[in-house]
Amino acid sequence: MSRPLNRAESSPTAPTARHLMFDDLEQLDQILAATSDMARAFVQGADDMDVTCRDFSAFDPSRPMPGQGRGTLDALRAAKEEILPLLAASIGPRYLGFVTGGTTPAALAGDWLTAAVDQNATGPEGSVTAAVEEQVISWLCDLAGLPKGRFDGVLTTGATVSNLLGLVAGRQWCGQQIGVDVDADGAGVLPSFEIFAASPHASMIKDLSVTGIGRNSFTRVATQPGTEETDIADLKAKLAASTAKAKMVIASAGTVNATDFDNLVAIADLCAAFGAWLHVDAAFGMFAALDDRRAHLLAGLDRADSITSDGHKWLNVPYDCGIFLTRHIRVLETCCRAFAPYLQTEAVGNMYINRGVENSRRFRALPLWLAMVAYGREGFTGIVRANCDQAADLAQWVRSHDRLELLSEPKLNVAMFTGPGSDDDNRALLARINATGKLFMTPTIYGGRFGFRAAFSNWRMRDHDMDIVKGTIDSVL
Ligand SMILES: Cc1ncc(COP(=O)(O)O)c(C=O)c1O
Repeated sequence: MSRPLNRAESSPTAPTARHLMFDDLEQLDQILAATSDMARAFVQGADDMDVTCRDFSAFDPSRPMPGQGRGTLDALRAAKEEILPLLAASIGPRYLGFVTGGTTPAALAGDWLTAAVDQNATGPEGSVTAAVEEQVISWLCDLAGLPKGRFDGVLTTGATVSNLLGLVAGRQWCGQQIGVDVDADGAGVLPSFEIFAASPHASMIKDLSVTGIGRNSFTRVATQPGTEETDIADLKAKLAASTAKAKMVIASAGTVNATDFDNLVAIADLCAAFGAWLHVDAAFGMFAALDDRRAHLLAGLDRADSITSDGHKWLNVPYDCGIFLTRHIRVLETCCRAFAPYLQTEAVGNMYINRGVENSRRFRALPLWLAMVAYGREGFTGIVRANCDQAADLAQWVRSHDRLELLSEPKLNVAMFTGPGSDDDNRALLARINATGKLFMTPTIYGGRFGFRAAFSNWRMRDHDMDIVKGTIDSVL
């Protein structure tokens, strides 16, 4: 009869790292306190740090991994010296690139807890994660002004994947309308599938490739003159002329440059008339619903078949957190179901594993839940309204400036403008502005002209920061 092995015998060649991990567990208090100190210094220092880091030469990506570990306290010291000083202050108020939300204290706490509790948020088996995600999705629909119970969905890694799910579910539904099953038999069974889009985001173009539809395989709809908004007459003409049996329209609620909103009511009417699936990319625009001066821009969103949005943009939860909503959750589940005997459960609740690309999933509902409980609807409304006011304020300053020119009236939270001289002069000017480290803007091309894009999506932006932004631009003009 064999006798049970004691710990030392069971792992006679256990690597040192195993012992370090147990040592670390014993000094978890110090480790968490040290982590907390570093995080606090970074978060509180983000107002005064250089907004971006432009020289990472001190960090050697080819350095070999240590054979022997040093323990977490020592590794934290190394991270403090070698990595933290080389990060962007993208959580801070003057990072105006892309559409970058910061992290609110509640969302930060939620994200820390997410790592600590390390749930695999696949479904209802043995943990409340699925019920929390269900509640958060319902609260998100409420924030967006969508009718209760009409939409269901899933949290994703970001709007890019949400757009992907829109394509996948829409294509499946289109197939079902004409009696073919793309999920079972492949995209080849749907030969005449036509997608119509006026201003698809770059991520949607990527998704067209990933789904095998093809980057160029969509019908470009005209935009209203001087905007990124779908020209309804052109969409109608193109839908009417199409011989495709399966159709999808991709609309925008807040384009990334001009923050234009499509006329979703008119587009929903056309989709109903021509039997097309309506997907709306509302990555950040969905939360315009919180601003009573702009909520009307989302009229018709409730008629979308699927909607993309993001938590890591305007809701200021940390990366990654995307949102996908649909009125046809069973169609999505058909396309994304993962079947294996070991994945089956009798537990009651949503199987999020069957609603997206990932099988194993981070418990990304928790940071959202914490932020929603901590700040409520009022808190998010405050961020959205303030950021819209800030974009309008910068636009007004540009308009009254004798050396700057506004490229488009901001409808939401993005101001686009340009300086004097040629595109090359302005490229150099943007480089000078960003080199100050006081703010960060990304380049854009709008109306054929090079410009600067200032996107306000951070809860920390205040009047004092606006003064720094304006003063800095003036100082390098
Ligand atoms: C309108 C729109 N759609 C999709 C995306 C892609 O978002 P993500 O980076 O979260 O995947 C963005 C990002 O800025 C966006 O503005």
